Amino acid sequence: MRKKLLLGNWKMNKTPSEAKQFALLSKDMVDNAVANNIDLGVAPTYVCLQTVKENATKNLIVAAQNVHAADHGAYTGEISIPMLKEIGIDWVILGHSERRTYDNETSEKCNAKIKALLANDMIPVYCCGESLETFEAGKTASFVEEQIRKGFEGLTPEQAAKVVVAYEPIWAIGTGKNATKEIAEETIASIRAVLRDMFGKVAEEIRILYGGSVKPNNIAEYMSEPDIDGALVGGASLELASYQALIENLR
Ligand code: PGA
Repeated sequence: MRKKLLLGNWKMNKTPSEAKQFALLSKDMVDNAVANNIDLGVAPTYVCLQTVKENATKNLIVAAQNVHAADHGAYTGEISIPMLKEIGIDWVILGHSERRTYDNETSEKCNAKIKALLANDMIPVYCCGESLETFEAGKTASFVEEQIRKGFEGLTPEQAAKVVVAYEPIWAIGTGKNATKEIAEETIASIRAVLRDMFGKVAEEIRILYGGSVKPNNIAEYMSEPDIDGALVGGASLELASYQALIENLR
């Protein structure tokens, strides 16, 4: 049985004092999630990671939004795995479509980062998803398959089981045009089939989230689908009240 997971992607929002405020007020929400057997987390910006980690209850997962594959070196502006580990961060989102679009993040780069994270006992949340053009051309399954095959290349089944996948159609992110639960389920089931082909029965253990305009009023629809294990949420994770409402409707 795969445990449900709700992860809030704060993107480039919240200053450290705003993030601290959220963390300080989040205890009841986190307790509620734990009591209902839901893993709950947020992904603040780098400069807010430590303050959220220090001011929230330890049961709140705190994830970075990216990381560099190398441990250290001449990579101006980058952050390494040992830096994250030292402040207690062990989850990292990789390959978000905004990073793929604006920062030349590729599935190959994500593969190197996934391997580095797993070697450090950390959990990658690997994002995939197609553009509106690809969706309208009916090529979603093959496009996402390539992202999955490249991202998971060279992993053992034991390693693959530790990765979380987030399927986020680009046309649904921040647009208010969420994919229907049928579309989300169809693609997520196809991702699980690719993982089954690559890794065998371990595919049944891999958590796959849906993301893209998930709101308190639509999250339950996704959770009713057999292959969808939770959500990666942007806008609706920023305010405590709406995040709380997401948990209420996800249980
Ligand atoms: P959204 O963002 O919920 O604001 O659409 C989702 C994401 O980018 O992870």
